[in-house]
Amino acid sequence: MTKRKILLIAAAVVAAGVAAVAAIPRAFETSVVTKDVNTPLSADQMKQLAERGAYVARVADCYACHTAKEGPAWAGGMPFHTPFGTIYATNISPDMEFGIGRWTRAEFHRAMQDGIGKDGKPLYPAMPYTSYRQMSADDVDAVYAYLLTRAPTRVENRKNELSFPFSIRQLMAFWNVVNLRRHGFVADPAHSAVRNRGRYIVDALAHCGECHTPRNVMQGMKAADYLKGSVIEGVEAPDITKGGLTRMGFDPLTLARFMKSGLSAQGSMTNQMFEVVHFSTQYMRDEDLQAMAAYLFHLESTPKTETAPPAPTPVSIPTQVADAARATYRNLCAGCHGADGQGIPHVAVPLSTNISLRLASPRDLTQAVLHGIPAQRFPGLERMEPMPEFAQLIDDRAIADLVNWMRARWGGQQPSVTAEDIAKLR
Ligand code: HEC
Ligand code: HEC
Ligand code: HEC
Repeated sequence: MTKRKILLIAAAVVAAGVAAVAAIPRAFETSVVTKDVNTPLSADQMKQLAERGAYVARVADCYACHTAKEGPAWAGGMPFHTPFGTIYATNISPDMEFGIGRWTRAEFHRAMQDGIGKDGKPLYPAMPYTSYRQMSADDVDAVYAYLLTRAPTRVENRKNELSFPFSIRQLMAFWNVVNLRRHGFVADPAHSAVRNRGRYIVDALAHCGECHTPRNVMQGMKAADYLKGSVIEGVEAPDITKGGLTRMGFDPLTLARFMKSGLSAQGSMTNQMFEVVHFSTQYMRDEDLQAMAAYLFHLESTPKTETAPPAPTPVSIPTQVADAARATYRNLCAGCHGADGQGIPHVAVPLSTNISLRLASPRDLTQAVLHGIPAQRFPGLERMEPMPEFAQLIDDRAIADLVNWMRARWGGQQPSVTAEDIAKLR
């Protein structure tokens, strides 16, 4: 990120601050905690709620962020690199000193839905309270009960490393005024219970928009471009609106299955999406996965049969490029992905029907070819072999040709990638 952009963001934050001062009366009204949560839950209630909370916490994917790689469960420590510095997820085990053992029910609700910490200071939106704001009070209670029945871990929180002025937590109060939705989740009576449940999962619990909705200059989600795709850590989290999903080759049933297994004719989940499947969606109940798919496809229920969208029409490209690329493909790729890109079961996913060839941006395809994919363990499979990296093996020109040819042949995309584009992604 350039200096200029950081300055712009700083200016935007200050401007928002000024705007917010005018809106202070409103700022104090932003709480969406409406249920009476001041009465502590009884031991019996806690026990009953904890069981449900285990599932809610899975769907909301709390564990993935609040457990460091190889670290003790719920002890925090996972770093989040933002343009403003590094924020560390916190210990949310019930440890009395380092975790949330002393948090009251009301304090927990405030954190989850209003983004306010125990000390009354705002949390950073690296914690997706921006989405959890829409969680039902009952689900928040259930997660609270579940967490307080985990094993406490005595691990101290790491201090965030943020640059000034972002190190001032109070600034987030202004950010919230501008970026936080005013309301919790409201079911739409015009739609079925299934579709409403789907929206609740997508927006409130599974927080798909936190990665798939592009962000504005202040890093807030752009409501106008809801789920239309965003770039995170150099990888494109694609458009998952109905149009985007159809272009990728999904129908509601294949999408629901894909979220469960991480694998389909459309390819495999990689990067951060692999982790979403690994820690969260593979555990979702079928009816929840199907509700989510119904909502994303604007349907009141999920159809019983698959209706795969038609394959894209191949685009012709100059013979020279095609010949060179075909040879590269035959030599380097066909052994694992099949001569016609059809994939080889237990070896590698199909490319002829692969999402990364159908996206408007060649970014994810190029990243996979350049940097490979580490071995990943998919639900129900022992382990998928790694995809080797080719950055050292082929030059920019040959990769550009290969990418253009694969996208034209199987993805129906005009050849648009230059050797310079590849150099930039290296
Ligand atoms: C995308 C990553 C992410 C997910 C998912 C996530 N959190 Fe967090 N959470 C964070 C980060 C980062 C912080 C620290 C924020 C800060 O320093 O202001 C945090 C802070 C918190 C806090 C405040 C703790 C404190 O000591 O101040 C609580 C409580 C919390 N999270 C609970 C949850 C629960 C419950 C879930 C699941 C429903 C969840 N989080 C899911 C990243 C995440
Ligand atoms: C932590 C960030 C994150 C969250 C949360 C997230 N996604 Fe993704 N998603 C990604 C990224 C990154 C990719 C691109 C993965 C790749 O490189 O193949 C992706 C890809 C996808 C794809 C296309 C598959 C592919 O391999 O490209 C679908 C479909 C999808 N996500 C749906 C969802 C849905 C539905 C949700 C909510 C349940 C969700 N995602 C939540 C980051 C995320
Ligand atoms: C040694 C076997 C092997 C070779 C050779 C190989 N791949 Fe792969 N490739 C894989 C595997 C395995 C995966 C799936 C990895 C995963 O998702 O865990 C994969 C995944 C991919 C993906 C990502 C698909 C997705 O769904 O996200 C692309 C794109 C790809 N390969 C392109 C290529 C190209 C182009 C070549 C030749 C330059 C190539 N591969 C050579 C094994 C291979």
